[in-house]
Amino acid sequence: MKITRAKKLSGELTVPGDKSISHRAVMLGALAEGVTEAEGFLAGADCLSTISCFRQMGIQIHQEGSRVLIQGAGLHGLKSPDNILDAGNSGTTVRLMSGILAGQPFSSMITGDASIQKRPMKRIITPLTEMNASISSVKGNGCAPLKIQGQKLQGIHYLSPVASAQVKSCILLAGMYAKGNTSVTEPALSRDHTERMLRYLGASVSSSGLTASIEPEPRLSGKKIRIPGDISSAAYFIAAGLLVPNSEILLKNVGINPTRSGMLKVCQAMGADLTLLNEDHSGPEPMADLLVRTSSLKGTVIEGSLIPTLIDELPMLAVLGAFAQGTTVIRDAAELKVKESDRIASVSENLKRMGADVTPTEDGMVIHGGKPLQGAVIETGLDHRIAMSFSIAALAADGETEIPDADCVKISYPEFYQDLHSLQA
Ligand code: S3P
Repeated sequence: MKITRAKKLSGELTVPGDKSISHRAVMLGALAEGVTEAEGFLAGADCLSTISCFRQMGIQIHQEGSRVLIQGAGLHGLKSPDNILDAGNSGTTVRLMSGILAGQPFSSMITGDASIQKRPMKRIITPLTEMNASISSVKGNGCAPLKIQGQKLQGIHYLSPVASAQVKSCILLAGMYAKGNTSVTEPALSRDHTERMLRYLGASVSSSGLTASIEPEPRLSGKKIRIPGDISSAAYFIAAGLLVPNSEILLKNVGINPTRSGMLKVCQAMGADLTLLNEDHSGPEPMADLLVRTSSLKGTVIEGSLIPTLIDELPMLAVLGAFAQGTTVIRDAAELKVKESDRIASVSENLKRMGADVTPTEDGMVIHGGKPLQGAVIETGLDHRIAMSFSIAALAADGETEIPDADCVKISYPEFYQDLHSLQA
């Protein structure tokens, strides 16, 4: 993919459905009684991996574009898979499914691609083991492949060392199969999509401050689930609208769950002309239209409890920092190192290639913004968010930018380049 400066972006866009919520719709729909109909499903590679894992466990799933029908089998209706479950590139699939698999009356193995096999799984092995689960890393390196011998679990109260929705969700899902209640307390609040959807389908889940709790053996009922647009995908077009001159973009039906929408606050603090329209709080997940116009940005500090609310948007925010006047500091974000790539290293390296003044740190980076950027060859490390963030940087840089592995956008946003193109027409 080769990209050069854009003169103007305008128009309306509906970004694809939320990735986190799409995974959860399939997982919880499979464990519910009756049919779940998900509308606005993200047919990206990660969520298709989740569908294929549940099909291997006997669940009938009919997927046609963004509409998915899941024939739920109830909490105890999964069948033993014949083969190793393949999560592809998806950390959410491995970590959330491990919580479910730990409580099944069968054994299973789950793994994924080269990136997945390097990502830390001790963070789920430790609490699941405390719950009496039998789960181990086959290679003994704390990573997938994971071997799970399902058995009766014990409820725990877990004090999580990381603010991670994947860890929290894994434990809560295992808690459905445990004796007694299960709760998780996090150091900062991570996305709460699992809690919201469990409650929506009928489970008894409470959230109080940094703690979420679940009662065992919920009876989930299949329902219609309307999945909002993914704010992590909208992030690229918010940034594009801010950076490219003479732009005005309307992004329709974007999820604005407060545990996910930290980017909106940060953009506003940077001086963005960004307005929320038609807010809809009627369903379990709030949504709104986002209107974004070209803005001159100033640097900011992104830290603390804000970090989990924008963790996947940090590559894009770092790029915005490079175009803003003044200094942008990102700290408390060491989690970036264990995403699809080491995003502290990959963002810093690619920003440097484009001529930005950036210094990586142990838990983030410092960016002295305002230097004009030049096109470069981007090293994506096959990380979809790096490919998309630097495609947007290219729209506001001199010369040509080349994204050699641009195909990796299919993980979360298969139509990304078509959508970008539609705004340039
Ligand atoms: C996700 C949670 C986040 C996020 C990931 C999706 C989820 O990971 O980075 O893309 O769906 O629960 P962590 O919770 O591990 O930070």
